[in-house]
Amino acid sequence: MVKHKRKAGKSTIIAVSGTPGTGKTMLSKSLALALNGKRIDCTKLIREKKLYQAYDKQRKCFIVDINAFKRAINQIIQENNAKKQPKTLIIDSHMSHFLHTNLIDLVIITTCNIKELGKRLKKRGYSETKIRENLDAEIFDTCCIEANEQGHTVLKLDLSKINQKTIKTTITKVKASLDKTN
Ligand SMILES: Nc1ncnc2c1ncn2[C@@H]1O[C@H](COP(=O)(O)OP(=O)(O)OP(=O)(O)O)[C@@H](O)[C@H]1O
Ligand SMILES: [Mg+2]
Repeated sequence: MVKHKRKAGKSTIIAVSGTPGTGKTMLSKSLALALNGKRIDCTKLIREKKLYQAYDKQRKCFIVDINAFKRAINQIIQENNAKKQPKTLIIDSHMSHFLHTNLIDLVIITTCNIKELGKRLKKRGYSETKIRENLDAEIFDTCCIEANEQGHTVLKLDLSKINQKTIKTTITKVKASLDKTN
């Protein structure tokens, strides 16, 4: 797929996706600080703007209206670009890899080893079914496969160990990948 490169004056847009619990939010917050960017909290956005079709009672989560989500993100990007000094945007969502390749400079897929991910999800109080589904998604590398299918430039990052040192190394990797996309 031919990817349109970022035009001069447009901000950098990073999509951070991956299975729940792998560390998207942790990484997005650190990236926002390191790049003087802005993290878009999509969980909040989806809830506030009602970008969902229904509420899944069994899984205790919203079923996102993907087209409404895409429109909302598009609007945020346009508004940011219209600013005098557009900021780097970091889109924190496990749906962000579904955004159009023309909009996104880099898709980061956060990953985590299965044992650690199981522990994290259990700690959150997720049901056995929900844990199993998320672990399966991680085992089958679902987000990464979908991101590649979309034609994105993908950087996969293992965040099984989250600490200041690993985050620092991770940010260096992200910066190197961004330099390549320019
Ligand atoms: N400072 C930290 N030190 C150690 N572990 C942490 C720290 N911050 C978060 N974690 C662990 O990392 C996990 C992943 O966190 P995070 O909320 O970033 O995942 P996520 O991918 O954004 O999940 P979701 O898709 O549900 O939003 C948390 O559940 C927590 O167990
Ligand atoms: Mg999160």
